[in-house]
Amino acid sequence: MVTRPDSARVFFAAWPPPEVQRALGDIARQADECGGRAIPAHNIHLTLVFIGDVARGGVADLEALAATVVASRFDLAIDRLEYWRHNRILWAGVEECPQALRTLVERLQQPAAAAGFRIERRPYVPHVTLRRDAQSAPANIRIRVDWPVTEFALVESAQRERGRMYEVLRRWALTG
Ligand code: 2AM
Repeated sequence: MVTRPDSARVFFAAWPPPEVQRALGDIARQADECGGRAIPAHNIHLTLVFIGDVARGGVADLEALAATVVASRFDLAIDRLEYWRHNRILWAGVEECPQALRTLVERLQQPAAAAGFRIERRPYVPHVTLRRDAQSAPANIRIRVDWPVTEFALVESAQRERGRMYEVLRRWALTG
């Protein structure tokens, strides 16, 4: 029997379709000059709102509030490869953050904060982590991956023997 722990580490994310995960996974592997380790394609995602550890009842509350969110779909043109020295992450991002993405993030943050979840208030920088423990910035690698974002998801993150595992708990369509 599989038993779940009493709490879960969760976040809202845009979970890419397999072809977008593959394209970003290829870029992650190809950037091995940056050091560290590539995120496997099946784990690649864009965090919208990080929530952290919640009791199982909290997961149900998050699902209920997410179900009331109305937001528009949008196209994400991933065209930047960047390196953050402070956390040694190589990440892919966008030159221009679509307004619809900012709106979606706000529409998740507001009800989650109102329901008592502790939400980060740092300015939102959309980033897709591609390598961890990287040692350097990439040299002039040009990238372009087009991702039509049509849904968002609540995702659970768990540390397993074989590394970090993500499980999409539920998805909601962007219909606006
Ligand atoms: P990262 O890739 O930049 O580490 C699951 O851990 C997801 O939530 C990852 O996308 C991770 O971002 C993000 N995340 C983890 N801890 C976070 C925090 N304290 N604030 C914001 N995002 C976080």
